[in-house]
Amino acid sequence: MDSMLNFSDKVVLITGAAQGFGKLLAAAMTERGAAVVLGDIKSEQLTDTAESLKATGAKVAYLAGDVASNDYAQQLVNLAVNEFGQLDIAVNNAGVAPAFSPLHLTDESTLDKQFNVNVKGVQFGMQHQIAQMLKQQQGVILNVSSMAGLGGAPTISSYAAAKHAVVGLTKSGAVEYASSNIRINAVCPFFALTNMVTDVSDEEGRKGLARRAPMKRLAEPKEVVATMMLLLSPANTFMTGQCIAIDGGVSAM
Ligand SMILES: NC(=O)c1ccc[n+]([C@@H]2O[C@H](COP(=O)([O-])OP(=O)(O)OC[C@H]3O[C@@H](n4cnc5c(N)ncnc54)[C@H](O)[C@@H]3O)[C@@H](O)[C@H]2O)c1
Repeated sequence: MDSMLNFSDKVVLITGAAQGFGKLLAAAMTERGAAVVLGDIKSEQLTDTAESLKATGAKVAYLAGDVASNDYAQQLVNLAVNEFGQLDIAVNNAGVAPAFSPLHLTDESTLDKQFNVNVKGVQFGMQHQIAQMLKQQQGVILNVSSMAGLGGAPTISSYAAAKHAVVGLTKSGAVEYASSNIRINAVCPFFALTNMVTDVSDEEGRKGLARRAPMKRLAEPKEVVATMMLLLSPANTFMTGQCIAIDGGVSAM
């Protein structure tokens, strides 16, 4: 295996791993030798994902829970250390999108949900992951923001606010822990064809979104995961604090 994508001595924690990017990333990591610790709020689906990876001979531990709970964030890190002895890589991927709504009509419960899951979920994850990585004097964190974390996102302003906060946490953490050999980056995908998008759009809606990208299409989930793998590569050792658009050219316009 090319050493740039050889994860065979790595322990990788992934939240939101029951489906979408998280599930594909778990498979990509185990195919390249990593032990994975998987979390998701969807308990049955998480079990299915984890058990099917285990059936391939992969090293897998999993625990269902809500990333908005600080205790759960600690439990996931404990699981990694108890099962596999360390935590090399953590991917704070779990997230939710709100229903479309103009900013001036956005209600408080929508804001609370966005900040509880998409912001506190990342903050709680990072704080326990970093505490463990400080003990090891090494580690890599990848947060999943969005193109909505880099610019305005009409009718999903609460999501944009939360994903901008993920960029703030990523950059702050990167600067704070760079000298402790902990790298922290984020990915910022444009619309990709996971359930988050397909469940709330029809063919026509997706064509409309695709027209907004220079590449005139939405991302395949595996394209986003391929970029995650590149950022997490053991060869990628000097990049930190970066929030990378995966967007078919949108941010180049
Ligand atoms: N699909 C896109 O177009 C797109 C674009 C930009 C960013 N993102 C981000 O990518 C990440 C992954 O999303 P996806 O596209 O794979 O969607 P998805 O809905 O398929 O996956 C998200 C996963 O997160 C889990 N989750 C949600 N809330 C949780 C909670 N409170 N605790 C634990 N797990 C929880 C869900 O159960 C689900 O399995 C999210 O952070 C999302 O905001 C997605």
